[in-house]
Order: sequence, then C-alpha cells, then structure tokens
Amino acid sequence: MSDYRIADLQKELVAVLDGKIERVAREVQLLLMNAYACDELWLMMHKDDLALHGELLFEQAKRRAKNEPLEYIINKVSFYSQEFFIDYGALIPRPETELLIDEVLKRVTNKEEKLTFVEVGVGSGIISIVLAQHLPNSKFIAVDISEDALKIARENIRRFGLEERIELRLGSLLDPICEKIDFLVSNPPYIADNVKLESNLSYEPQNALFGGTVGDEIIQELLIEFLRRDINYFSCEMGYDQEDKIRNFLQDKSFETIDFYKDFSGFDRGFTIKANNE
Ligand SMILES: C[S@@+](CC[C@H](N)C(=O)[O-])C[C@H]1O[C@@H](n2cnc3c(N)ncnc32)[C@H](O)[C@@H]1O
Repeated sequence: MSDYRIADLQKELVAVLDGKIERVAREVQLLLMNAYACDELWLMMHKDDLALHGELLFEQAKRRAKNEPLEYIINKVSFYSQEFFIDYGALIPRPETELLIDEVLKRVTNKEEKLTFVEVGVGSGIISIVLAQHLPNSKFIAVDISEDALKIARENIRRFGLEERIELRLGSLLDPICEKIDFLVSNPPYIADNVKLESNLSYEPQNALFGGTVGDEIIQELLIEFLRRDINYFSCEMGYDQEDKIRNFLQDKSFETIDFYKDFSGFDRGFTIKANNE
C-alpha cells in the first residue's frame, strides 16, 4: 500500500463509476481536484505522488454511483463562470438560468442606475449575486419560502461579500415586500406536480421543482402581483410548454410588451414582461 499513487487511486475510482454515469473520467478528476484542493495541471504533474484521501474519495464515488448529484457531494457548483457553495436544501443551479440573467441585464440600459430588484425563490442565491455583481448601485431583496435555501444563499452572499447589497427575507412570493419594486425576477418552481422526474432529481428540494397541479400556478401568481403593483419589468424562467398558457392568461390584461426567450436546446424557457407604467 505504501506505493499507492494518485494515478492508482484515479483508476480505482474510475472502476467504481464505470457504466454508472456518463462522464466518468471528468467526474473522477473533479472529485480528486476537490479532495486535493488543486487544479487539473497540479493533478497531472502529481499523479505519481502518494495517494491521500482514499477513504473519503471511495465513499464519495459510491454516492455518485447511486446517482447522487456531484454538486451535492463536493458542495460546489459552477454558474456564470464562478464557483458557488451548494447543499441539499437548494436547487442545483442550471446552465439555462444564465440566460435569465442575460435577459435582465439586457433591459438595464444604465448599469449604474439605482434600482430595486426583488427575486422570488432565491435558492442558492446565484441570480441575485450575479446581478448584484453587474449592477453595482442596485439593491436586491431576495425571498424564499425555505429556510434551508436561505441558509445556503446567505453563505454564498457572505462568500461574495454582498451582505450590504442583498437582503434575504423568508416568506411566500411578494408577501414580505412592501417596498416599491423596479424589477422582479424569478426562476420559480414550474413543473406540474404529477410529472415523474429522473432519479437524480429526487435529491433536490421538491418545493424548488414542483409549481402546482398545472405547473405554472406560481408564475401566474407572480404575474398578478406584477400587474397589481407598480413594477416596471418582470423576467421569469418557465417550462418549455408554458408560453401559450401564459399568453392566454395575459390576454385581457394591460401591459406594454412580453418577449419570450429560448434555452440552449431551442426550447421556450422564459420571458420578460414590461409594464405600461413607465
Ligand atoms: C427553481 S428554484 C430556483 C432557485 C435559484 N433561484 C436558481 O435559479 O437556481 C425555486 C425556489 O423557489 C422557492 N419557492 C417555492 N415556492 C415559493 C414561494 N411560494 N415563495 C417563495 N419562494 C418559493 C423554492 O424554495 C426554491 O428555492
């Protein structure tokens, strides 16, 4: 055992995951990089070093072999080219949510402006954090119904030093907000309650995924609030099959424009609605 090298450990970890997941070599590399707190280059240069952390890494590989998401195992997730803390209790951020951020940023012509943003369903905090980084004078109030999610968001906000810019509030939808809102943003749960999901999604908080019997109930409630309050813009992620239902819901309502956007696979994924109150 004394000449058990990192390269040997790597091979054995690959054997644990072989046939169980898709990107075996890459995920083993990510597990090793996490355990050794190193990058790809270090790993390549030190593959003949004596192996450490074997026990922990085998335990993690076995969890991964049971389809537990890698992000929860290593407590890290990459989003908008940055690394965030993640844990059970918050949804693992999805790449398509980067598009929601781009949609919001496109609408803010003067990035120095002092605006009040509200995010509903903050989860791990990624949306408010990235927006706060790009909009240095704006204030953010981020709501979630889950205390566990708020804990994770709080940790990320602390890591990025944004405690003064992003305020977290526990509650449902816009209930905890009495301030005037300029921009509402949300990636709400939008899957219908009866949809059977893949097994890896069972590790994620179910109230972050399921939005009601039809799925778009929370989106509709947010639209009602958007129209009722004096809010200028609302950008929202949605399910690939929800555009028609949202258009129907808005048929007799008064607003200026609604633009839908697609995700990387060409599916409808969200919209920005502009009020006619400007
Ligand atoms: C799809 S996740 C989005 C998390 C994060 N914003 C992201 O994009 O990765 C939805 C979030 O909405 C929260 N949520 C569900 N129902 C809510 C409600 N009625 N009011 C506020 N937040 C709610 C969930 O706890 C979850 O954190």
